[in-house]
Amino acid sequence: PKYWLIVPAAGIGQRMKAEYPKQYLRINNRFILDITLSRLMDSGLFAGCMVPLNADDQWWPESDASSDDRIQTCSGGTERVDSVLSALYALNEQVAADDWVLVHDAARPCVHSADLANLVSTLSDHSVGGLLAAPVADTLKKARPGSEATVSETVDRSQLWRALTPQMFRYSLLVNALETALKEGVPVTDESSAMEFSGNMPVLVEGRPDNIKITVPADLDLAGFILGRL
Ligand code: CTP
Ligand code: MG
Repeated sequence: PKYWLIVPAAGIGQRMKAEYPKQYLRINNRFILDITLSRLMDSGLFAGCMVPLNADDQWWPESDASSDDRIQTCSGGTERVDSVLSALYALNEQVAADDWVLVHDAARPCVHSADLANLVSTLSDHSVGGLLAAPVADTLKKARPGSEATVSETVDRSQLWRALTPQMFRYSLLVNALETALKEGVPVTDESSAMEFSGNMPVLVEGRPDNIKITVPADLDLAGFILGRL
């Protein structure tokens, strides 16, 4: 089977409160989206890459990636899941049912090449797939709601993981799982949640906790620091 990459980049970055979408903010004078794409495409693993973009995107032509003929674009959708499905449909003519699709957030430029390699080698013979994830480090409190929230209990964190990306699944299983989850109205904040809902249990592959998703302004400095050390 071949490996395909989808990098959803159609969000508007509301929480970043910047003048334009966060994937087009620069770190070391490069678009975050370009850093993310080159860190993954440099692996030489992928047969192709699809990047869903916002209908109002006016920055893509300025990206380094736009002149890379291995990388194609399509239009994204309202939610992340809609963007991912649109990219899966756009790849339809090129992929086989049991090919692998890796979905990776444009906003995660700090992904490590060793984690990508480990994810792929761990799952390459698996029938479903899985995701990079990191064990939760903080002690977790469940709140008892009220005017002033109080602690209702401390949650056992020994079985809790933070879901990261890439998330890697067989093409047709993923398409079916996302379509079903959308039809049933279950929340789909990542590919894994849709796979879980369909009864195909994804494998957790431990990845570096510094594979952060740039979400709020403070994450920009943090990502710059992490990238400087990778
Ligand atoms: N994304 C997408 N299509 C959407 C929403 C999100 O392709 N309709 C992408 C984003 O561009 C990002 C990734 O999914 O690379 C993770 O989403 P998130 O961090 O939530 O980005 P935004 O939705 O842009 O940010 P916010 O939620 O703060 O608006
Ligand atoms: Mg979002």
